[in-house]
Amino acid sequence: MKILVAEEAGFCFGVKRALKLINGYLNKGNQIQTFGPLIHNVPVLNHLAAQGVRSIDSTKEIEKNKTLCIRTHGIPREIEKYIKKKGVATLDATCPLVKKEQKIIEKLNKKKGRIVIVGDKDHPEIIAARSYAKNVTIINSLAEAEALPRAFQMSIVAQTTLNSEFFKQVVAILMDKAEKIEIYNTICQATKDRQQAVKKLAPQVDAIIVVGSKISSNTKKLFHIAKEQNRHSLHIETCADLQKPRILAQLSKFNSVGITAGASTAPEELDRVKNFLQKL
Ligand code: F3S
Repeated sequence: MKILVAEEAGFCFGVKRALKLINGYLNKGNQIQTFGPLIHNVPVLNHLAAQGVRSIDSTKEIEKNKTLCIRTHGIPREIEKYIKKKGVATLDATCPLVKKEQKIIEKLNKKKGRIVIVGDKDHPEIIAARSYAKNVTIINSLAEAEALPRAFQMSIVAQTTLNSEFFKQVVAILMDKAEKIEIYNTICQATKDRQQAVKKLAPQVDAIIVVGSKISSNTKKLFHIAKEQNRHSLHIETCADLQKPRILAQLSKFNSVGITAGASTAPEELDRVKNFLQKL
């Protein structure tokens, strides 16, 4: 079987940075809690848990003798303020590109006009980002864009892991809805590169395997793009998922398989999938 790996796949710069920060702290013997899962990848989180890193979801769970690590997706402003006020030691692993998005929203909050965030309102990145302005409108479909009332001034910001094509379509709809419009394409380069790479790879192979957590926003978008280009697209979390008899039967029909992985998928997992397929 011919195996091709997407030109850009797996760990992005923000995830590598966060893991470097947290591992550096752990190596010095510090005890760490994370506010929310550090990244959206179960094997990586299990590895951290084995080193005593526990994820908490509320300020009530903060243990003062531990350093509180802020997740790559960021946390709401009021929680950050509370933590500072309480004098809790922190390690900020928020991706700098998520921070940039938060700063843009904070700046827009001082100006007039409607702020529109295009993204998933329930995703931690957006829950954190929206806290930087008093009023924001969050949309995540073309129908929601169509339904937005007109405004004199409108600013549009994107979730960092949004599908680039989808953002273009939303912007095209909103262009007719305001006199003055400002567009902040805050989709990160790692997301764009991975999306372009899978778009290029998917038509060249019989099937595509997307490796990454089912709760990872950017992995889900990669799978969606792969599926648009190649109907034999499969989303797996780990190499173990390939070992199911139904999947093995499917794979035996293909002569070539392409592999990609979300921005929070470790290179070791990608290698495991590649080696497994090579042996088939
Ligand atoms: Fe940052 Fe983009 Fe990765 S926002 S965490 S570089 S997917």
